[in-house]
Amino acid sequence: MRRHSLQLDAEGRLRHLLTIEGLKRQQIVDILDTAESFIGVGDHQMRKVPLLRGKTVVNLFFEASTRTLTTFELAAKRLSADVLKINIDTSATVKGESLLDMLRNLEAMQCDMFVVRHGDSGAAHLIAQHVAPHISVINAGDGRHAHPTQALLDMFTIRRRKGDFAALTVAIVGDIMHSRVARSQIHALTTLGVSEVRVVAPKTLIPSEVESLGVHVYHDMKEGLRGADVVIMLRLQKERMSGAMLPSENEYFQSFGLTKDKLAMAKPDAIVMHPGPINRGVEIDSEIADGPQSVILEQVSNGIAVRMAVMSMVLGRPPIEGGATEGVSDNVPDKRSTP
Ligand code: CP
Repeated sequence: MRRHSLQLDAEGRLRHLLTIEGLKRQQIVDILDTAESFIGVGDHQMRKVPLLRGKTVVNLFFEASTRTLTTFELAAKRLSADVLKINIDTSATVKGESLLDMLRNLEAMQCDMFVVRHGDSGAAHLIAQHVAPHISVINAGDGRHAHPTQALLDMFTIRRRKGDFAALTVAIVGDIMHSRVARSQIHALTTLGVSEVRVVAPKTLIPSEVESLGVHVYHDMKEGLRGADVVIMLRLQKERMSGAMLPSENEYFQSFGLTKDKLAMAKPDAIVMHPGPINRGVEIDSEIADGPQSVILEQVSNGIAVRMAVMSMVLGRPPIEGGATEGVSDNVPDKRSTP
């Protein structure tokens, strides 16, 4: 079995979300369309729909997170699920309990979904291979491998701002080598038919196999940004670097930090994105991060609707026709179907 086929059920529908790789264009579009139906939920007085009432979602974060953890929790609560966060530092794993034994115990508490962030590439796949048949696993970032919901919320933000993917040139700038976000974004952008996907970085931060994914490589930032519609900046993942892969942060900023003069090479209406956390003065100037072309905080807000979409779809609730709050009742049939 190919690793990414683990996330689909026998009918080819999402049972887990582990990676963007292997998803069909229509499956990504279905998620984005479902997210669109949830976008207004946060503006309603109740801020809730009952789609996952009675379900229990467990957040298992073995690595630090602000945005992903919080928006998964908000998304689950807005779907009316019960949400637990396991504090890894005070869990019985510190007494030697294995990850799989911990999961068996959580299964015995009748949990329905594990949202997993882990430093090891493949951790979410491993968990998905071992969970009970009724449990879904969502990868919230595993090592350098994948961060599928980040890529989906980025695609959602691009679609809302720019419309047709086929007309776009997208430049991803920074630490491509260690970035699970970049890997997932590249799979999403190429699957959605983006006209040109570029990666821009020093040679030491570009993985050797990246061109086989259908992207163009640039080592000169101004050339890489020329005519771009979307500029995605990435953080230097120093925690995943071994040895000296870079000059000083100051030299890096001079060559690959996004400043006003470099952004001027992109189209005048280009949007600037960053998955966060941002390091001001390292990969992006504050003037740009807080400027009119930045959609960085919009990405964060969109993350709630996109994670609501993913959770509702993998737990088997169909996307809603006519908007997320119309016609929703406790009697929504529990069938795994997407339109
Ligand atoms: N973008 C992202 O994954 O941010 P967090 O590490 O704060 O979750």
